[in-house]
Amino acid sequence: MPRPARPKHFSHRPRRSAEDHRTRQPAHEYVLEALPGLEEVAAEELQHVPLARDIRGLRFWYPGDPERLTRLKAAVAAYRIRAWDVPRPRGLLGHQQLGELVDFLAAVVRVGGHRSFRLAAAGRESSVMARVAEELSNGLNLPFDAEEGELLIRLRPQEDGPGWEVLARLTPRPLSARAWRVCNRGGGLNATVAYAVHKLAGQREEDRIFNPMAGSGTLLVERALMGPYDAMVGVDTDDGAVACARANLQAAGREVEVARVDALDTGLPARSFDLIVADLPWGDAIGSHRGNAALYPAFLGEMYRLLSRQGRLVVLTHELRLFENLLQDQTRWHARELFQVYSGGHHPKAYLLGKR
Ligand SMILES: C[S@@+](CC[C@H](N)C(=O)[O-])C[C@H]1O[C@@H](n2cnc3c(N)ncnc32)[C@H](O)[C@@H]1O
Repeated sequence: MPRPARPKHFSHRPRRSAEDHRTRQPAHEYVLEALPGLEEVAAEELQHVPLARDIRGLRFWYPGDPERLTRLKAAVAAYRIRAWDVPRPRGLLGHQQLGELVDFLAAVVRVGGHRSFRLAAAGRESSVMARVAEELSNGLNLPFDAEEGELLIRLRPQEDGPGWEVLARLTPRPLSARAWRVCNRGGGLNATVAYAVHKLAGQREEDRIFNPMAGSGTLLVERALMGPYDAMVGVDTDDGAVACARANLQAAGREVEVARVDALDTGLPARSFDLIVADLPWGDAIGSHRGNAALYPAFLGEMYRLLSRQGRLVVLTHELRLFENLLQDQTRWHARELFQVYSGGHHPKAYLLGKR
């Protein structure tokens, strides 16, 4: 009797998945940099990078295509990192070490297409650093540009050993400098902060989202790129801001309505939104402290009307005392701090509010 054909999945030859194939590529060590206060959001995003392993905080090994790391949203930079067993940076100028260092950096340049480089290290003005710069310029065939160099090379003492480690930023610009940002305005939010706001506020397909005081539209664009939602609209009273947000949304390839409307007088029915995200004027570059003393309570009152019963309101502000006093003096909202971030010389906080 002929033997029945062996079902395909009983085949003796192990089948190699695409993932097996990629896993066999040599792994490199990387480290992410996040704005202070957003490290946990960046670490959480890292957990979702396929093949990232041996993750310790923001440091990890990864055998996959580095391009995937350049698409991370919560980190401001991704670096490939390698340590040398030298007691001082001068040791990197040894024949063998220099050859290895140039190979290491050249591999990063092949990924990022950098056209110049700069050094960031304690004592970067020293004669040793000048020699390192000269040798690297020759070895990499790239010009050294102390201020604007695209390949950012950091040298620092090893975290867990006696040597020195070198970090090479994968991208010529920080990851927070999004390709969609064709228009910038004073007071514009760092895009990684906007991403963190949405991640921590919760991303729901059924959300009707409102972004009052949209400015250049950072919160709108980042949410539009994160995935589906039911509806989203932004407003600002400033013509220039409306035009700027529209330009950024168009560059991102997303259709979101932005209108020149006063957020406190939208004419919209009560409970129109499930999620309201607002980066309020901070009273320095945008708005004034005295103006904010009137704006903030009026804002909270109108957002209470516009928010659905189970809705979430996220407020990002640097007017911490004003806002926290307001929260203390009211009973309609419950609130908790989502994060405090250090960005652009400020320490704003993000609060998540809900109706009691
Ligand atoms: C801190 S900025 C927002 C920055 C924005 N997150 C960005 O990334 O560009 C605050 C914005 O609120 C706007 N604004 C102030 N009062 C407003 C109001 N009553 N209604 C709508 N927009 C208002 C200002 O024109 C300004 O663009």
